[in-house]
Amino acid sequence: MSDLTPKEIVSELDRYIVAQDSAKRAVAIALRNRWRRQKVQGEMKNEIVPNNIILIGPTGVGKTEISRRLAKLAKAPFVKVEASKFTEVGYVGRDVESIIRDLTDISMSIVKKEKQLEVKELAESLSEEKILDSLFPNNSNHKLSEAEELRHKKTRERLRKKLQNGDFEDREIEIDVIEDSNSMMQVVGPFGADDISMNIKEMISNVMPSQKKRRKLSISEARGILIDIEAENLMDQDELIRIAKYRVENNGIVFLDEIDKIVDQGNAGSGPDVSREGVQRDLLPIVEGSRIATKYGTIKTDHILFISAGAFHVSSPSDMIPELQGRFPIRVEMDKLNVNDFIKILKHPESSLIKQYKALLGAENVKLKFDANAIRSIAKIAAEVNTKMENIGARRLHTVMTTLLDDYMFEESSGRKKMITITKKLVENKLNNIVSDQDLSKYIL
Ligand SMILES: Nc1ncnc2c1ncn2[C@@H]1O[C@H](COP(=O)(O)OP(=O)(O)OP(=O)(O)O)[C@@H](O)[C@H]1O
Ligand SMILES: [Mg+2]
Repeated sequence: MSDLTPKEIVSELDRYIVAQDSAKRAVAIALRNRWRRQKVQGEMKNEIVPNNIILIGPTGVGKTEISRRLAKLAKAPFVKVEASKFTEVGYVGRDVESIIRDLTDISMSIVKKEKQLEVKELAESLSEEKILDSLFPNNSNHKLSEAEELRHKKTRERLRKKLQNGDFEDREIEIDVIEDSNSMMQVVGPFGADDISMNIKEMISNVMPSQKKRRKLSISEARGILIDIEAENLMDQDELIRIAKYRVENNGIVFLDEIDKIVDQGNAGSGPDVSREGVQRDLLPIVEGSRIATKYGTIKTDHILFISAGAFHVSSPSDMIPELQGRFPIRVEMDKLNVNDFIKILKHPESSLIKQYKALLGAENVKLKFDANAIRSIAKIAAEVNTKMENIGARRLHTVMTTLLDDYMFEESSGRKKMITITKKLVENKLNNIVSDQDLSKYIL
């Protein structure tokens, strides 16, 4: 778990997200409080509930971005779900539990990767021995004399040198490959992370035992497989599961996007397919703290941090069922972004749009430069289109930039080095016509 202080968390978030100071502050406190809770002794530790947060604000102002960055900082298992998907046709009540199952899977894969890194060197050297065994099997059934044994050793070391030198990469060896249900799954078809396929996947992996198969592979192909097998043997599965579960229960973060879509406006009629209030009721036990069965055992959800987000155009958080409201005590209104924010968003974040386009054209040996006036002009146009048409926040910068740079992205290819400077005039030439023509801008921007 990260031990950053709230101020440090905010300044890390500042590297990626412009404005939204109160949202940054709220998530920073929530994250730090979990670290603080870990230090608390005794019964009290169980009583302290997470600071669940609702981020309220229109589209494209950074709600998802803040949560995504926070999870990275926190080095915590993180899952993002659209709350609205639980109101769709085909939804059956208990499926909200899949959120916790997914989170546990994610935690498990993080822990596994960490451990794999730890045992990597040992696994590599063990797999080298295995390869040498197949290249140079010891078939004699009588006990070797001392002289024979010495010769044997010497040959093996000579082979090892050659192997390390890459001389045998194409040589074929036979190895035992474990075909577990997961690798069969890839044959059966591509499975996404959605619940239906998750359930099928779990069902199938329960009925199909793993099988050993002997296969002939080139050493270069076999090496990776052997390393994985050795690494797997070196890892204590029970320990992995224990760590993964601990992290989910104490550091896990669930981001519930579009929470407003499961909230009715006042008493305005019933929901489309599944009652929205029903979804809130389903979510309640998970947010309040309950035990969920996963394939790694039971997960207690009491201390998982929930961050939810929504535009709340027609409804408000106070339209949620009271029990759920009570579990989201922290509400943060996101700032509306203005022209100056847009300028900063274009320029400052770690991988801002301008930096991205520079990198893309850099790959063609083209140096892309933006005049300060040009950037201001792009920001202004984005803000103007947002007011004239639909306000999609910082997302508008994407459409404006794509349109602006379209010709360059098509024309430029690696040739001799050159430089392109985007000036204010160029921005206006390319975009003003489109902006002033309502119909045109509707399609293009
Ligand atoms: N405050 C901000 N600082 C930097 N970039 C931002 C900011 N707000 C939005 N962006 C950029 O705009 C895009 C959309 O932002 P994001 O996904 O966070 O929107 P959102 O608030 O979650 O909207 P929605 O309600 O539609 O989900 C992202 O590419 C993000 O990088
Ligand atoms: Mg979002």
